[in-house]
Amino acid sequence: MGFLTHINCLLIFFLIFSSFYLGLNAVNDTITATRYIRDPYTISSNNGDFKLGFFSPENSTRRYVAIWYLNEGYPIWIANRDQPLNDSLSGVLKIHKDGNLAVMNAQSVIWSTNVSISGTNTTAQLLDSGKLILLDDSSGTTIWDSFSHPADVAVPSMKIAANRVTGKKIAYVSWKNSSDPSSGYFTGSLERLEAPEVFFWYNKTKPYWRTGPWNGRVFLGSPRMLTEYLYGWRFEPDDNGTAYLTYNFENRSMFGILTITPHGTLKLVEFVNKMMFLELEVDQNKCDFYGTCGPFGSCDNTTLPICSCFKGFEPRNQEEWNTNNWSGGCVRNVPLNCDKLKNGSKVEQDGFRVYHNMKVPDFAERSNGDQDKCGADCLANCSCLAYAYDSYIGCMYWSRDLIDLQKFPYGGVDLFIRLPPQLLGNAVSGKKGRDSKGIIIGITGTIGALAIAVGAYLLRRKCAPKHKGSQPQNLITKDQKEIKLEELPLFKFEKLAAATNNFHLANMLGKGGFGPVYKGQLENGQEIAVKRLSKASGQGLEEFMNEVVVISKLQHRNLVRLLGCCIERDEQILVYEFMPNTSLDSFLFDPLQRKVLDWKKRFNIIEGIARGILYLHRDSRLRIIHRDLKASNILLDDDMNPKISDFGLARIVKGGDNDEANTRRVVGTYGYMPPEYAMEGIFSEKSDVYSFGVLLLEIVSGRRNTSFYNNEQCLSLVGFAWKLWNEGNIMSIIDPEIQDPIFEKSILRCINIGLLCVQELTKERPTISTVVLMLISEITHLPPPKQVAFVQKQNCQSSESSQKIQFRSNNNVTISKVEGR
Ligand SMILES: *[C@@H]1O[C@H](CO)[C@@H](O)[C@H](O)[C@H]1NC(C)=O
Ligand SMILES: *[C@@H]1O[C@H](CO)[C@@H](O)[C@H](O)[C@H]1NC(C)=O
Ligand SMILES: *[C@@H]1O[C@H](CO)[C@@H](O)[C@H](O)[C@H]1NC(C)=O
Ligand SMILES: *[C@@H]1O[C@H](CO)[C@@H](O)[C@H](O)[C@H]1NC(C)=O
Ligand SMILES: *[C@@H]1O[C@H](CO)[C@@H](O)[C@H](O)[C@H]1NC(C)=O
Ligand SMILES: *[C@@H]1O[C@H](CO)[C@@H](O)[C@H](O)[C@H]1NC(C)=O
Ligand SMILES: *[C@@H]1O[C@H](CO)[C@@H](O)[C@H](O)[C@H]1NC(C)=O
Ligand SMILES: *[C@@H]1O[C@H](CO)[C@@H](O)[C@H](O)[C@H]1NC(C)=O
Ligand SMILES: *[C@@H]1O[C@H](CO)[C@@H](O)[C@H](O)[C@H]1NC(C)=O
Ligand SMILES: *[C@@H]1O[C@H](CO)[C@@H](O)[C@H](O)[C@H]1NC(C)=O
Ligand SMILES: *[C@@H]1O[C@H](CO)[C@@H](O)[C@H](O)[C@H]1NC(C)=O
Ligand SMILES: *[C@@H]1O[C@H](CO)[C@@H](O)[C@H](O)[C@H]1NC(C)=O
Repeated sequence: MGFLTHINCLLIFFLIFSSFYLGLNAVNDTITATRYIRDPYTISSNNGDFKLGFFSPENSTRRYVAIWYLNEGYPIWIANRDQPLNDSLSGVLKIHKDGNLAVMNAQSVIWSTNVSISGTNTTAQLLDSGKLILLDDSSGTTIWDSFSHPADVAVPSMKIAANRVTGKKIAYVSWKNSSDPSSGYFTGSLERLEAPEVFFWYNKTKPYWRTGPWNGRVFLGSPRMLTEYLYGWRFEPDDNGTAYLTYNFENRSMFGILTITPHGTLKLVEFVNKMMFLELEVDQNKCDFYGTCGPFGSCDNTTLPICSCFKGFEPRNQEEWNTNNWSGGCVRNVPLNCDKLKNGSKVEQDGFRVYHNMKVPDFAERSNGDQDKCGADCLANCSCLAYAYDSYIGCMYWSRDLIDLQKFPYGGVDLFIRLPPQLLGNAVSGKKGRDSKGIIIGITGTIGALAIAVGAYLLRRKCAPKHKGSQPQNLITKDQKEIKLEELPLFKFEKLAAATNNFHLANMLGKGGFGPVYKGQLENGQEIAVKRLSKASGQGLEEFMNEVVVISKLQHRNLVRLLGCCIERDEQILVYEFMPNTSLDSFLFDPLQRKVLDWKKRFNIIEGIARGILYLHRDSRLRIIHRDLKASNILLDDDMNPKISDFGLARIVKGGDNDEANTRRVVGTYGYMPPEYAMEGIFSEKSDVYSFGVLLLEIVSGRRNTSFYNNEQCLSLVGFAWKLWNEGNIMSIIDPEIQDPIFEKSILRCINIGLLCVQELTKERPTISTVVLMLISEITHLPPPKQVAFVQKQNCQSSESSQKIQFRSNNNVTISKVEGR
């Protein structure tokens, strides 16, 4: 009976369609007027990565036509998400007689591509990118494609697009829940096309979450979205007013699925060689919800209550505010002076107060010009309430209520909020040079800028003959032209001499690579560190300019800040912020001081260094390889936060992912250098990763890498750690000061990461962004380390002056190199 019905069924199909269906999971990637698919069959893309066919989500019996990557667990597109089939017998995907691709059951069309077609035949094809297209056979043009009609997922080369003229947007709509793919509550789209960013909307109309403007590298309002995930993203406007954001992996073995989840979060699943590599959901806290603190309210999830008003503002409704309903926001309690000024009366000008690490408020407007002009323009316009400057986006200003503000622990922008003069106090003044005590914008003035530019030019000329026969190591000179130094303040030599008691020996903090460093105090009480290049070091000139150029462009909480410089007579002097706790090595390798660094502090230092390096490699305006990371170059601030310093050897490298550069002059510090650099002069981002790994092991063990351990074998710290790891005795390397069962897991994890960083083969070492992810446990499963690269001294007793250092290489052949002097 059932058998007969089945036969009948088939017969009916045969009669109705008088064509054939793909009874097998055919290799062919097309559907034509004569070839269609029936539940439960599928077709594959040519490369086999994608399948198109019928599927049911977990815990559901409904049938949907979907495209998925690898297996049904990764659907990337669904045709009939809001028109499910209720049984698994009747579904067919075919070219309908009107030429559209359609999902049908026995009776009717359930879903259709629904484009008007001028009466010719069409073909549907599943491409290798996972895109399904409908082709007009006669012209060969694509008349419909699935990437322009997305569900909840963006994959590489898909566009998140919006048109500023027509207002048309491509919206990504979440599933209702994990087993129901019908259109859910959250919608993602590209907004604010002047400074584009991604918005998540609740119920299509209520802003729920925003990434902050895309600046070409990061979303300014999402510091927790690490650049690793944003690598390969591009923003491109086209001629017709459409702007779109898209992402692509450079390496074809990689693939990613970006999803807006049913509960309004962003999730990324990344694959390498078709294996799932990582799954990340961008976490949200209360402050991330749009406008939690209302207009002019600032959110900080580390304080209680999380909302506060800016200086000069108070809650609009104190009672409401006290009940933790902050949505009313804040209002100004002292009026601005700007309007009075216009009326011709003589009053003091408004100014700005700067707030660091802020999320860029919504509704930014843009204008041209540098940071100084940005501030001056804002001041001159009474309706301008705040401004911020980002080197990629340029000047942003706000003339409506500031909304969706958040204070981040790191990242974000410096937000300058307009205030009347009586509230300025120590803040940024509107009038240049009025208040020498405050932090004054535009401190340099044009003369300073000119002097520096001229100085830089002369220095470059002076240095130029030196690089003749040009080694590739001078990558920096190419970029130098593009770098303007005008933002960097210039100090007078006399001032610095006075500040350091005439460079008195008692003020000397230490000797850096190219000269002594002194502690000083400016007239206003600010403590500074002054690095004076020794005149004798001809070499230093180049490094000096290098350091100035590199570091003047960098700003990160884990990098030491350059306050200014001095190029006068024969003097080249760099002025830094002063770090009262000096450097990491003075704590780590001192039996008494070491106790100060408990594991929490040490982990904070490890993570901070990693973030600093990440900034250098990925987040800053330049891509920089430091090349001399070591404990003595990690400075510590009051709260024991690490700051990377000494950029004399840093190199700027040009774009591209796998850049390796080569130098004939190997500079750096033995023990922290990876073999490929020490032996062959090849350096890349992975060289810094190696140095970081060594540092990490030093921090965990409290031992210097360059001291040698294990008497018979004369192993360096890295070799010693590797030996202990293989013997299953790695716990014994941990500094007794931090040994505590509570931290054991965390410490072991760090050692594992450290060993991964010092892998013999550069490709086995993780990138610094992966390291950060490992440290913050976004990546939970760490691969076990393989062979590490380390030095072995031939003779433990040999004198320091002629030590023979051997790098263990992969195939047990020992390459040796004698370090002279
Ligand atoms: C798929 O089938 C169509 C028509 O039957 C044919 O033209 C096309 O070459 C086939 N493609 C592959 C990849 O086999
Ligand atoms: C399916 O149902 C099981 C049991 O109720 C549940 O544990 C699982 O999470 C569900 N899966 C999805 C995707 O909802
Ligand atoms: C499936 O069932 C639901 C509710 O029972 C109904 O609304 C829907 O129209 C059915 N779908 C089809 C394709 O028959
Ligand atoms: C198909 O498109 C037409 C206009 O282009 C529209 O009116 C109609 O509602 C659409 N049908 C479906 C099922 O989306
Ligand atoms: C369209 O397809 C039908 C059926 O395969 C075929 O008979 C007809 O010639 C095709 N028409 C064109 C314009 O290609
Ligand atoms: C998903 O939503 C459907 C209704 O849309 C409901 O019947 C089902 O129980 C929900 N499943 C889960 C796991 O919440
Ligand atoms: C969504 O918005 C509509 C009106 O746009 C409203 O009627 C509905 O209640 C809202 N739903 C929720 C869950 O907020
Ligand atoms: C802009 O629109 C014109 C006319 O519609 C079209 O020919 C052109 O291809 C479009 N340009 C882009 C870049 O899409
Ligand atoms: C892509 O990645 C794979 C695996 O990590 C690697 O083997 C391959 O060499 C990479 N290809 C390119 C072009 O970088
Ligand atoms: C603040 O937010 C961050 C990131 O979402 C989270 O890790 C942290 O636990 C939150 N802190 C508090 C006190 O909620
Ligand atoms: C919070 O205050 C606003 C008015 O500022 C009001 O509309 C809203 O209903 C209040 N929300 C709650 C949860 O009380
Ligand atoms: C400025 O003058 C205009 C009219 O000239 C007046 O309406 C306005 O109130 C004055 N503003 C202030 C702040 O005094």
